[in-house]
Amino acid sequence: MPDAMNALSRRRFLSTTGRATALAAAASPVLFHGGTSRAQGANERIVMALIGAGGRGGSHATGFAKLPGVEFKSICDVWDTRANGVIRDVKKIQGRAPKRVTDMREILDDPEINAVVIATPEHWHALATIWACQAGKDVYVEKCPSLWIWEGRQAVHAAAKHKRIVQVGFQNRSAPYANTARDYIASGKLGRVVLVKVCNLLGGQKFVPKPDAPVPEGLDWDRWLGPAPSVPYNPGRHLGWYDWWDYKGGALVDDGSHQLDLARHALGNPPHPRSVLCVGGNYGFRSSRQAPELQAITWDFGDFAMTCDSGNSTNHLRKSNGDERYGKKWPHWPSNAERIEIYGTDRLMYLGRHGVGWQVVETDGKVIAEDKGTHPDVWHRPNFLDCVRARKTPNSNSEEAHRSACLVHMANLSYRVGNRQLTLDPDTERFVEDSTAAKAANQLLRPRNRPPYEIPEIS
Ligand SMILES: NC(=O)c1ccc[n+]([C@@H]2O[C@H](COP(=O)([O-])OP(=O)(O)OC[C@H]3O[C@@H](n4cnc5c(N)ncnc54)[C@H](O)[C@@H]3O)[C@@H](O)[C@H]2O)c1
Repeated sequence: MPDAMNALSRRRFLSTTGRATALAAAASPVLFHGGTSRAQGANERIVMALIGAGGRGGSHATGFAKLPGVEFKSICDVWDTRANGVIRDVKKIQGRAPKRVTDMREILDDPEINAVVIATPEHWHALATIWACQAGKDVYVEKCPSLWIWEGRQAVHAAAKHKRIVQVGFQNRSAPYANTARDYIASGKLGRVVLVKVCNLLGGQKFVPKPDAPVPEGLDWDRWLGPAPSVPYNPGRHLGWYDWWDYKGGALVDDGSHQLDLARHALGNPPHPRSVLCVGGNYGFRSSRQAPELQAITWDFGDFAMTCDSGNSTNHLRKSNGDERYGKKWPHWPSNAERIEIYGTDRLMYLGRHGVGWQVVETDGKVIAEDKGTHPDVWHRPNFLDCVRARKTPNSNSEEAHRSACLVHMANLSYRVGNRQLTLDPDTERFVEDSTAAKAANQLLRPRNRPPYEIPEIS
C-alpha cells in the first residue's frame, strides 16, 4: 500500500511550498504569481503540469503545449499505463519530455510550476483544486468541478482566498455562439422565457457488477481513491467510475453538467433555483447501476421552469457528430440526444453544445435566426492562459461553474432520497428541513473524507 500523506507532512508541504514560492519569485525569470495579483506580459512563459493523464488530460496536455509560451514540466498519473503516452506526445511538440510523477504533491511543491490542469475523475476535482490554490498554482479543472455541493463551495472560497485563476472545463462558455445566443435571448426576441428543456438522453448498455480483484501492477489504488471511501480494488469501479456516486454520478454529472451550464450561460446566469424534483430509476436495462439509467428533473427558478431528461438507455438518439460540432451541418434536432430547447412566449430556440450553435424556429419550421459554431476548446484554453497572464476572471469562473454543478448535485440528491422534492436555501446552499427527505439530503452535502484527504473548510 503506498504511503498516504499525513497531517504533519501536509502542513510541511504547504509551508515548504510557501517558502519555495518566495525564493522562486525572486530568482526565476518565468511567470510567477506567488499569491499576488499582478498583470503579466502577453507572451510570458507559463510552466504547466497535468494531473490525470487519461483521455481528456492527454488532449489538454497536447492542446496547451501547442499554444505559445507554454511548457509542460510534469505529467502526473497514479497509473503507469497512462502517463507515458502523453509524455511522448508532449515531447514531440515542445522538444523536452515532461517529468513523470505519480503523486500530485510533487507538482504542487514545485515552485517553477505556475498552473495545473486537473483531469482526474470527479471525486478528486475539488480537493486537488483547493490544494493547488493553497500551493499558489492557477488551475484549469475539468468539469464537473465538484462531486458534493459543500466541497464545491470550499473550492470557490480557496480560489478567492488565494487569488488564483480557476477556469473550469465548461468550455461552451468560451464559444462565441454561446454569447450570441445569450444576447439574442436578452434582446427579448424570444419573448419572456418560460421554459427551458434540456435533453441529455444518451445511449448506453446494461450495467453488470464485477467482483473485487487484486490491484493491477502499476496502479496506486489508494491514491486513485483519494477522498472517496477506502474499498478493495474493483475493476468495475476503476474503469466504470462514471456510474458510481463516490466518483461521478452518471450521465447527469457528465454531459448533463455541460448542458445545464450552457443553458445557464445563455439565460444570463440565473441564481440558484428554489427547488428540485428528480424522478428516476433503472427503467431501461433494469440493472443495479447506482447513478440511474433515467432521470426526469424539474427545477423551479421562480419565473421560469427548467427541466432535464437525462440518462443512458435511449440508443435511438445520438450525440452531435463531427460535422455538426465543427460547423459544417445542423443536427436534426428532434433526434439529437443533447439539445437545449428555450421556450419564450413568442419563439423557440434550439441550442446545442460543443460547437453546434443555435437556431430560432417559427411555428411553420422556418428558421429566422441562427449562429453556427465550432468546438470551443480552441477558445477556452487560450482564455485560461490570457487570464493567468492578465489576472482576469476566466470565462468559466469557479462561482458560476459551482452554481451549474449545484443543479446536477441537487437533482441527484432528490433522486437519492427517494424521488422527493427539495427546497434550497440559496444563502446556505442547504435544503430547507421541511421533511425527513430534506434532512437526509442535507447529510449528503459533503463527503465523509478519510485522512489524509479531508476537504478543508475555507473561510
Ligand atoms: N470538458 C469536456 O468536454 C470533457 C471531456 C471528457 C472528459 N472530461 C472530464 O475530464 C475528467 C477525466 O475524464 P477522462 O475521460 O479523461 O477519464 P480517464 O479515466 O480517461 O482519466 C482519468 C485519469 O486520472 C487518473 N487519476 C486518478 N486519480 C488520480 C490522482 N490522484 N492523481 C493523478 N491521476 C489520477 C487516472 O489514473 C486516469 O488516468 C473527468 O472529470 C471528465 O468529466 C471533460
